[in-house]
Amino acid sequence: MTLKTIEWKDNAVVMIDQTKLPNVLEYVTYTDYNQVADAIRTLVVRGAPAIGVSGAFGLALAALQSDTTDKNTLISYLENAKKVLFETRPTAVNLAWGLEKIMQVAKNANSVDQLKTNVVEYAKKMAEEDIQINMTMGKNGSVLFDDNDTIMTHCNAGALATVGYGTALGVIRATKESGKNIKVIATETRPVQQGSRLTAFELKHDGIDVSLIPDTAVGYTMANNLVNKIIVGADRILRTGHVYNKIGTYQVATMAKQHNIPFYVAAPLSTFDMKSNPEDVVIEQRKASEVTGIGDKKTAPDGINVINPAFDMTPPELIAGIITEKGIAKFPLEESIKKLFQAN
Ligand code: MRU
Repeated sequence: MTLKTIEWKDNAVVMIDQTKLPNVLEYVTYTDYNQVADAIRTLVVRGAPAIGVSGAFGLALAALQSDTTDKNTLISYLENAKKVLFETRPTAVNLAWGLEKIMQVAKNANSVDQLKTNVVEYAKKMAEEDIQINMTMGKNGSVLFDDNDTIMTHCNAGALATVGYGTALGVIRATKESGKNIKVIATETRPVQQGSRLTAFELKHDGIDVSLIPDTAVGYTMANNLVNKIIVGADRILRTGHVYNKIGTYQVATMAKQHNIPFYVAAPLSTFDMKSNPEDVVIEQRKASEVTGIGDKKTAPDGINVINPAFDMTPPELIAGIITEKGIAKFPLEESIKKLFQAN
């Protein structure tokens, strides 16, 4: 059984506190949408699909928190809660997607009682569907991987970045479940170390062979034929096939091109932003202390200037394919992505 990152239980949201991993597997319970917003902001929950569902659960909590009997007043209250939740993190498009879906359900309700029931049920359905979508994506992607492949991944696009099963790690899980013998190389993913703290933890938890490397060993492992294929997740994908993912992804993709190693991306359709252009995408800039120290230990001089972007953009020409629940988009990506959406 893979880890369940986030769940609705007895009118509360229960999630794994990912800031405590890999040292302790601890669950936190929230009944206030402001707590959910804080959890997204502070990376208690992270990963694009996971924050999409967290946003939806947050809005469902907001609906239950309000004691108004007037539907319009409740909608205004939800609009405000939506703003608070939306402003937590700017890059992953799934957050806006999850919030928008719940607002639509709220607006369509005929009464306050119906609104509350419907938004809770819909958010729960989104969480269940997330796992199903990941499993379908996993199956679709598993055909791209062969027996005895060693697959590199960056950051965490696993069960912990979703409700369960994972996107990129979902493809890895499905490949293993199909009977192929595979190994994984996980990058450490400085500065927040989602690779060492989360990917290494979850693959080890599930008995998948994983080796951890420092980010600086990406070139070495490729140059020494220690990697056959690469798969990562995504926080936002544009209609043109530009992929926004954890900082360092662009370096991995560029290095993969240099060594002729196929570089794949796995993401659900909810991660696609079909309207924006690259100049519209806001890259989250995170605090300097993530770079100037490791845990409580200072590793840089006081007062040093720091540049700490959380994401970067990988251009379509570096990508061999984008795996979705509706199929695999291949070169030329823009045309292929359009077809996936038309078939949807
Ligand atoms: O800052 P995070 O941990 O929320 O970033 C998440 C990522 O960038 C993941 O690598 C990922 O691929 C997107 S979520 C499946």
